[in-house]
Amino acid sequence: MTCRDNSDLSPDQPVYWRDRWEKGVTPWDCGCAHPLLVHLAPRLPSGRALVPGCGSGYDVIALAKQDPARQVTGLDLSELACKRGESMRDEAGLSSKQVQFIEGDFFKFDYEEPFDLVYDYTFFCALPPHLRKQWAARMAELVKPSGILFTLMFPVRDSGTGAEGGPPFSVSHEAYASVLEPAGFKLLECGDVPSAYRRPKTPSPGAELYGLWQRVGA
Ligand SMILES: C[S@@+](CC[C@H](N)C(=O)[O-])C[C@H]1O[C@@H](n2cnc3c(N)ncnc32)[C@H](O)[C@@H]1O
Repeated sequence: MTCRDNSDLSPDQPVYWRDRWEKGVTPWDCGCAHPLLVHLAPRLPSGRALVPGCGSGYDVIALAKQDPARQVTGLDLSELACKRGESMRDEAGLSSKQVQFIEGDFFKFDYEEPFDLVYDYTFFCALPPHLRKQWAARMAELVKPSGILFTLMFPVRDSGTGAEGGPPFSVSHEAYASVLEPAGFKLLECGDVPSAYRRPKTPSPGAELYGLWQRVGA
């Protein structure tokens, strides 16, 4: 899968992502929720959940189906992605009160109150590394004190600085910890995604890690 191929656009420009959606160049789209999310969902907080960079929204729907008391918001820059999510929600018989999709920018969108749970899968790696500190600062605004940030970290490569490619930018556990800990998150649990719970296209052991982070402080 290549995510930096066909233009002079850069992934920090909304038009880069909208262009990919409009051209149907979405190789990250596996057509299903992440199996580890489905497995761990019963252990995750109820209440208000956010999935930034949700793409087609499979994970949004999985979080909502698992817990009818969980109100889930999928956020994506692409109107097309949000429309797909809305169709899937309607097909699943879920209400627009429980599941909403917002077309917007993670760094700027308006929300009523912070979230009990934020789930990040292939969103951190979609951002150019110079935005990682801003990503963590924004997460600290979005997650309630004692709330949980669940990161599925992919694609994990050596230094994780993003320089080795990705797609689009490689990551590492250290790349997350180095921005999340100063922003006020404590790691509760982490590990390799067990083979039984890897997504179909995830290549090898160690390429995908998970982390449960709690926001500390008031
Ligand atoms: C690599 S894709 C992953 C999609 C989804 N998480 C999945 O696994 O199928 C990254 C997604 O983030 C969205 N995105 C990129 N930058 C964004 C931003 N600043 N705010 C909201 N969404 C963004 C893109 O439109 C794209 O759908």
